[in-house]
Amino acid sequence: MRRHEVVIVGAGLAGQRAALAAVEAGRDVAVVTKLHPMRSHSGAAQGGINAAVGAEDSVDTHIYDTVKGSDYLGDQDAIEFFCREAGPTVVEMEHFGTIFSRADDGSLARRPFGGAGFPRTIYAADRTGLALLQALYERLGTESFTTYEEWDLLRIVVREGRVQGIVAIDRTTGALEEIAARSVVIATGPAGRVYGRTTNAHSCTGDGIAIAYRAGAELKDMEFVQFHPTALLESSILITEGARGEGGILKNAQGERFMARYAPHVLDLASRDVVSRAIITEIQEGRGFPGGYVHLELMHLGRERIESRLEEICDFSRKFAGIDPVTQPIPVMPAQHYMMGGIGTTIRGETNVRGLYAAGEAACVSIHGANRLGGNSLLETLVFGKQAGTAAAEYAARAAPPLLHESDLAPVRTRLDALSAKSQGEDPQAIRTAMQATMDGRVGIFRSFAELAKALEELRALKTRYENVRVVDTASAFNLNLTDALEVGHMLDLAEVITVGAIARTESRGAHSRTDYPKRDDAQWMRHTIASQSREGPKLSYSAVAYTRWDPKERVY
Ligand code: FUM
Repeated sequence: MRRHEVVIVGAGLAGQRAALAAVEAGRDVAVVTKLHPMRSHSGAAQGGINAAVGAEDSVDTHIYDTVKGSDYLGDQDAIEFFCREAGPTVVEMEHFGTIFSRADDGSLARRPFGGAGFPRTIYAADRTGLALLQALYERLGTESFTTYEEWDLLRIVVREGRVQGIVAIDRTTGALEEIAARSVVIATGPAGRVYGRTTNAHSCTGDGIAIAYRAGAELKDMEFVQFHPTALLESSILITEGARGEGGILKNAQGERFMARYAPHVLDLASRDVVSRAIITEIQEGRGFPGGYVHLELMHLGRERIESRLEEICDFSRKFAGIDPVTQPIPVMPAQHYMMGGIGTTIRGETNVRGLYAAGEAACVSIHGANRLGGNSLLETLVFGKQAGTAAAEYAARAAPPLLHESDLAPVRTRLDALSAKSQGEDPQAIRTAMQATMDGRVGIFRSFAELAKALEELRALKTRYENVRVVDTASAFNLNLTDALEVGHMLDLAEVITVGAIARTESRGAHSRTDYPKRDDAQWMRHTIASQSREGPKLSYSAVAYTRWDPKERVY
């Protein structure tokens, strides 16, 4: 058995920032990650990171924009803390070596993003996540800690009301391993692969969220799923909001700049929920291109600007859609992009389970409420990664030694053995594909009771099929058939939580748009959904939203 004081699961920006904070606090830290840290999904973030550093901008405006963007479901105390940390966080990342794009006067360049009152999104061309990840990886690399790379989390052990450590599998050997820990931070990123059309990497299977849920952690606001308006047709590769920030415009098949109908003041730079609904409405009302998509036009910006500010977008469009954005419009469609929900935490990353912390997209503080603003996600990983790492380190310094037993491996071993022992059973890939079709088709941008109820029925049938899932690959090392089977199990649990929460919430708010309940209902629904695991499925309860300064009003862009 291995032992560390603080175990961080996940090595993207949130995990690495948590690790840095815990190491700086003097704790013995281990990072457990299923990917090489530089391959984390944080590296796929393109457009930028928000901080109100411009003379015309203010922290208060950032706070207000985020509250409004959240459709008033974000906790205003948390949002205030978050936005105040933005400037120092960006400066720190620059000191760590992030090479941000510059304005002509040498200051940090900023571009406008959806739902923001001022150009506030600081960027490194269109690969901001990668630039941040690289700088943080190099900074963290100067510290002393242990990394378990290509290890999959399988279980969080909770005994006597507190976390005692984890069980994981070392993919490179197939060995089951126990790591005793006084505190555990979950920073495993999103679960976007519950959908088929998603900008998320294949690795985004919500492992940490599902395993924390099984360990007793409460999940918050899982029904709020963000669809990014502009994903490349077919491949669903992200076409950054930065493209519209640079002046790109959306057009329908009739050549209309249709956003004028939906957001007359800010047009293409409305918040993501508004733009995604607008695109789907255009297509449903017959103004999309055959096959169902719209155009994003950049041509008027000129080659120099397109190729210097949006280099990756050019590359992706040329390679994956066969079009050149310098001379041709980009065919785009909304795709799942971000989960506003996650493991419920305080501002310090604490969950309802003692010794268990969470940060980044796996967590829900909640600062995004019903809809996240672009550029707030990279910031979230760093601000709350640091908070969670600091809190986990403080707790570990005073917690009793962990009580992890050899027998804690047993249920995991039994489960894995059973998967491989079957001579017949279900193919995990077939279940995954069916789950994604259900989520794409019935739990998407527009929702209704009829579709959601059907989705739940289908998901529960898939869960029954999953009980008979079979792993045919018998290899010990890199058994990706086993990985797939485990990941599908995680995603099925989370898809069920999303759907149950969406059925219960009989209103439309932010990214949760019910055609049968088209209005926001503050009297009944200004509250967070909390989901706990029970034998019968997700058990829902509700908690209050924190208000400080802004009363809810109608959201107009
Ligand atoms: O559009 C984008 O570049 C995505 C940014 C974000 O999700 O914050």
